[in-house]
Amino acid sequence: MQLIDGKSLAHTIHQTVIADVATLKQNKNIVPGLAVIIVGDDPASHAYVSMKEKACEKVGFYSIVHKMPITISQEEIIQTIEMMNQNPRIDGILVQLPLPKQIETEKILEVIDPHKDVDGFHAYNVGCLVTGLESFVACTPLGVMKMFEAYDINLQGKDVCVVGASNIVGKPMASLLLNANATVTITHIHTKDLKSHTLRADIVVVGVGKPNLITADMIKDDAIVIDIGINKLPNGKLVGDVDFENVAPKCSYITPVPGGVGPMTIAMLLANTLKSAKKRK
Ligand code: GUN
Repeated sequence: MQLIDGKSLAHTIHQTVIADVATLKQNKNIVPGLAVIIVGDDPASHAYVSMKEKACEKVGFYSIVHKMPITISQEEIIQTIEMMNQNPRIDGILVQLPLPKQIETEKILEVIDPHKDVDGFHAYNVGCLVTGLESFVACTPLGVMKMFEAYDINLQGKDVCVVGASNIVGKPMASLLLNANATVTITHIHTKDLKSHTLRADIVVVGVGKPNLITADMIKDDAIVIDIGINKLPNGKLVGDVDFENVAPKCSYITPVPGGVGPMTIAMLLANTLKSAKKRK
């Protein structure tokens, strides 16, 4: 069994971004800029945004965070995004999800200029991804693809089971895998017999948010397991969706939590923002 070390891979990507930022500054006097909107006071969302902010600072990006109260109106969020769309110093715009109930998330995401949509959530970018056109791709699934690449894991013809069908993770993950010629099964909350699907898979990618959802009896020998889940147990311990202790010995490769996919999400956000800045007029 080999661990897929997301922390170390993300560190390598950060170093590349730092070097590219210096070149961009020197040659074009461009400093990549990321704007983040966060609504309400969900501690997990604030923790993620704070990590994103710190990462921007570390690699030399310009970054601004707009903290908005939970009572904010949809119109006010839209106006803020429209300002960011016009701001020449901003290359990437990210609205931290989930948004409060009174806000229509799809309407908000559609206001973001697709060329600044570094989260890849705008319908334009989702459409490009599905049709195999160049686009911004959601950071977490993109990070998983980088892990496969870094560990020389060939996806062509592999049976891959994606557990979870969210717009943020499961659906873009399945599209990327399909584009890489894998045979993809997407399972979700209504799937009748999850185990029958995971047990057949060469690769299981799970991002649901349920500790111990994937147990050793659900995984075939030498499978590859990618755990996207991040769950905080009552004792404060961070775990994924996989019963790591019992599943890991059966796997050829597995990602740990923490130190697996999580750091890659942030690395891809930096990479997407840098990509946008390189295209700045
Ligand atoms: N909420 C959970 N994951 C993400 C993410 O990758 N981007 C945004 N904007 N919100 C999230």
